[in-house]
Amino acid sequence: MKHELMALPYAQSALEPYISSETLSYHYGKHHAAYVNKLNALIEGTAYADMSLEEIILDAKDAIFNNAAQVYNHDFYWRGLSGVQSHPSDELSTVIERDFGSMDLFKQAFIAAAAGYFGSGWIWLVLSEEGKLKITATSNADTPMRHGEKPLLTCDVWEHAYYIDYRNMRPNYLENWWKVINWEFVSANLKR
Ligand code: FE2
Repeated sequence: MKHELMALPYAQSALEPYISSETLSYHYGKHHAAYVNKLNALIEGTAYADMSLEEIILDAKDAIFNNAAQVYNHDFYWRGLSGVQSHPSDELSTVIERDFGSMDLFKQAFIAAAAGYFGSGWIWLVLSEEGKLKITATSNADTPMRHGEKPLLTCDVWEHAYYIDYRNMRPNYLENWWKVINWEFVSANLKR
């Protein structure tokens, strides 16, 4: 099966002024696209050629895993953003308040985890196997699916996600990334 670069659910300028169209043209158009192309090249003629992205992620190692998981993580990241204002569902608000105390405490904890994460990776809001919301980090291409956790939201903290707009100022990226979260997507993932 040939994997395809997902179509962005909005225009490349939709996240401005918080995330620029120049960032999207590189991050989506070059980095994300490269993971898709590399994955297709690596799996050609192997047992992975006919597997879904999820099946590859759960089985593969090394370069095939890295490229497949980066495709999945980026698909999830873009779907979790929107230029249109949105709000968490009542159900999501209730579990955030239950597990973090308040939406504001959740935001503080998520941004602190993302700002303090060393190196390249992903910060996630996940639902654990015990049904509790947690903030987790995965290194490089790693993804919560491999740890039995259901992702609700992710933030890409690889430098390529923010260097054009924010240079080395990851905390400024995080504050502005927060403004374009697609809460409808996050809320729908809780029900999934
Ligand atoms: Fe990225």
